[in-house]
Amino acid sequence: MSKREIFELGEVPPLGQIPKLMYAQVIRADRFGHPRKAFKTEKIAIPELRPGEVLVYVMAAGINRNNVFAALGLPIDVIAARNKSGYDPTDFHIGGSDASGIVYAVGPEVSNLKVGDRVVIHCGVWDRDCPAVRNGTDPMYDPTFKIWGYETNWGSFAQFTRVQAHQCMPKAKHLTWEEAAAPTLVGATTYRMLMGWPPNVVREGEVVLIWGAAGGLGCMAIQIVKAAGGIPVAVVSSEKKAAFCIRLGARGCINRKNFSHWGMMPHWTDTAKYNKWAAECRAFGKAIWDIVGERKSPSIVFEHPGEDTTPTSIFVCDTGGMVVICAGTTGYNAVVDLRYLWMRQKRLQGSHFANDEQSYAFNQLVIDGKIDPCLAGTYKFDDIGHTHGLMHDNEAPEGNMVAIVGAPREGMKDIDL
Ligand SMILES: NC(=O)c1ccc[n+]([C@@H]2O[C@H](COP(=O)([O-])OP(=O)(O)OC[C@H]3O[C@@H](n4cnc5c(N)ncnc54)[C@H](OP(=O)(O)O)[C@@H]3O)[C@@H](O)[C@H]2O)c1
Repeated sequence: MSKREIFELGEVPPLGQIPKLMYAQVIRADRFGHPRKAFKTEKIAIPELRPGEVLVYVMAAGINRNNVFAALGLPIDVIAARNKSGYDPTDFHIGGSDASGIVYAVGPEVSNLKVGDRVVIHCGVWDRDCPAVRNGTDPMYDPTFKIWGYETNWGSFAQFTRVQAHQCMPKAKHLTWEEAAAPTLVGATTYRMLMGWPPNVVREGEVVLIWGAAGGLGCMAIQIVKAAGGIPVAVVSSEKKAAFCIRLGARGCINRKNFSHWGMMPHWTDTAKYNKWAAECRAFGKAIWDIVGERKSPSIVFEHPGEDTTPTSIFVCDTGGMVVICAGTTGYNAVVDLRYLWMRQKRLQGSHFANDEQSYAFNQLVIDGKIDPCLAGTYKFDDIGHTHGLMHDNEAPEGNMVAIVGAPREGMKDIDL
């Protein structure tokens, strides 16, 4: 039987049958710019598998902010960066760092998966021979670590995705394909931030301040803090988002629009301006205490806005506490008043995605029904540029957006093949 050239979207190929081409939402350098114009549907040849890799038929793909940056070509041109490093050179980018799907082909040296397995995919990839993996230390520290579907090509915005076998985890049976595709990147990142930096991990009765609490990371943080017995205090920019956070389990919400001291703080030698800034910070800290019901400051501050908020995060963090940060959405020049850092012995900790152990631990919380994937909206394959545009313009709905890729329709938890 001759190999079929391509299957239409929503037409699920017979199990294990791989066509020559696939539909993909593709970014190219000459289209860099607003996501609505950067993404375009193209027909692309399906890549060969290398040792340790599998090919997954994508049922649904989660939308994340990383491919807003890929579309803009900022702060790096992901295609040029890949080509410069000699890593899997191509002149296009298929993004997508979250997916649910079915294993359709298994490459050499894969023992943990078989064709037909229903999976979700975490986005951490690394060279199996890297020293960290061989020594049993954290592969997150190895220079070969990359985010699949951002730093690598062949992400989930296509009918088939090529991934390393260890990225695949069992799909929670109680979730639809689109629900299952929603939480892994943000959830595993959040898990490492909140549970991966002992002794500063979430503890029973301790306060965690969560910036952007209605966003992708934030809605996971509320739930992980709750599950560990902590007190989640949310920061948002609207009453609608606040209501969403309360429904999810936040003890209370602060509307950041009620404050104006954001960005890099005044120099400490400019006493008048500095004191005004510090007074706003104290008022913000009091808003946290009012929610908690006592003068208890956050033992962990969950950071990602960066430049606008880090000075405040350091200020309000409890003595011996930790500000843990995984991004600089509003900018990268975060200023710290070192006096608070050393006298109160606070920790400013960078954190980036998660290793296998942390990703699997998060996935187990999903399988156990302890995490609502917070599916904010299900979109069509052709809307992938639009969904990233919503994120770019800070108009995304609360929670996580997902695009249907190969699933015949919404609402399906499995499929007979
Ligand atoms: N390093 C990693 O492994 C990793 C993993 C996942 C995500 N990230 C990064 O983390 C960041 C957040 O990701 P996400 O998925 O949660 O994005 P998201 O869903 O777009 O949420 C970001 C939130 O940030 C808040 N925000 C925007 N401007 C702000 C400002 N000036 N001050 C305070 N808050 C502001 C917004 O909430 P309000 O307007 O309601 O305050 C928004 O909901 C992104 O930059 C993403 O690329 C990094």
